[in-house]
Amino acid sequence: MDSVQHGQPVSVQVCDACDARFDARDARVQCASCEGLLHVQHPQPPTCGVALRESFDARLLPARGPQGTGPGDSGVWRFRELVMPDARDEDLVTQGEGNTPLLARPRIAAWAGVDHLLLKHEGLNPTGSFKDRGMTVAITQARRINATAVACASTGNTSSALASYAALAGLRGLVLVPAGKVALGKLSQTIAYGAQTLLVRGDFDDCLRLCRQSSEQLGVYLANSINPWRLEGQKTIMFDLLQQLRWQSPDWLVLPAGNLGNTSAFGAALREARRLGLIDRAPRLACVQAAGSAPFAASFRDGFATRHTVRAETIATAIRIGDPASHERAVRAIRETDGVVLTVTDDEILEAKAIVDASGVGCEPASAASVAGTRKLVRDGTIQRGARVVALLTGHMLKDPEVMLAYHRDTEPAPACANRSIEIDATLAAVERVLRSGSDLS
Ligand code: F0G
Repeated sequence: MDSVQHGQPVSVQVCDACDARFDARDARVQCASCEGLLHVQHPQPPTCGVALRESFDARLLPARGPQGTGPGDSGVWRFRELVMPDARDEDLVTQGEGNTPLLARPRIAAWAGVDHLLLKHEGLNPTGSFKDRGMTVAITQARRINATAVACASTGNTSSALASYAALAGLRGLVLVPAGKVALGKLSQTIAYGAQTLLVRGDFDDCLRLCRQSSEQLGVYLANSINPWRLEGQKTIMFDLLQQLRWQSPDWLVLPAGNLGNTSAFGAALREARRLGLIDRAPRLACVQAAGSAPFAASFRDGFATRHTVRAETIATAIRIGDPASHERAVRAIRETDGVVLTVTDDEILEAKAIVDASGVGCEPASAASVAGTRKLVRDGTIQRGARVVALLTGHMLKDPEVMLAYHRDTEPAPACANRSIEIDATLAAVERVLRSGSDLS
């Protein structure tokens, strides 16, 4: 039943564990009585089914803001009824996020062993990752509740997004990242956008614990994915994708999984899309973890009987997480979609990344886990060759230049897909020698 204020239905924050309800403008991101995580419940939109689909589709027509960054340009705020229905245009902290392309690349599909593979490239968001979708909503909320500072723990992408959106909103940003374990592109962005950057001698799980304590005791607004408004924004990856597919679900959606915010958001988005008649069938979710950082995969293997934690290690630093915060919600998402959870090795991630990069698309290492995972699921017969598969690319290739250079330039012996550069004298003869020696170049 909708909550009502001054005769109008309003959104509320509801505890996952005990159903306690809190005002939508309450700054706490955990239940005041049992410390459970909160989710947001919105009033029923004025329409549903085909009519709601049509109203979302109508907004695809150009409605550009003055600088091309108004609400009409955002692939998040197009779905406002399902994200933050009472947000006013002047409240929004937005910069044209979302609306990311859905790409067909036969070479990647052939490598993965499927006939129909599409890549939803969230790395093409303004700060280069899907985190912008949640952050536009969390920072809009921060401004609505008059927060003066916002904070997050991060493996680098959340911190980049927070730093950017905090700067747009004129809010102080504080980020806690694991010292020495953040990819160069992400660290540089975070610093340059102006967030106060704390390099914590610990891992992501330490950073998140510290950040939760800081938000409870020092009064900064927490913008990690346990913040319910972040997930409202991340749901729009799914809405945007379904809209691109003319509201026909694919058979599978394969995504990299770390702190499990996206998995949880997708579970919520699909539940809502079905309840509102936007779709009649949901895709199966396949969550891919790096083998050295795979507590969720371990839990899946024992039928989710136990919640596992690990000391995480992987070259894909974005998903180097051993104690995912949104475990319970992600379990629900996997159960409801008849999903699977699997692991891929760092070598498999690097090979998949080299294929994605060389196809001209490009992505960061964690993102390539979804393509590596697709291949593994096809090989073990879980995904049929003829299935319609969407793999999520979560981050831009320039996020982690060090891993790319190490792979192509420094690894001995050279990996199968290595593209070695050659230093030459500044002579035409030297160029000619190279051209003649590579038969596929002549
Ligand atoms: N891919 C990328 C590029 C990420 O940055 C992350 C998470 C994930 C996948 C995993 O998503 O946590 O929702 O399961 N990055 C967070 C960060 C932890 O701090 O940037 P998840």
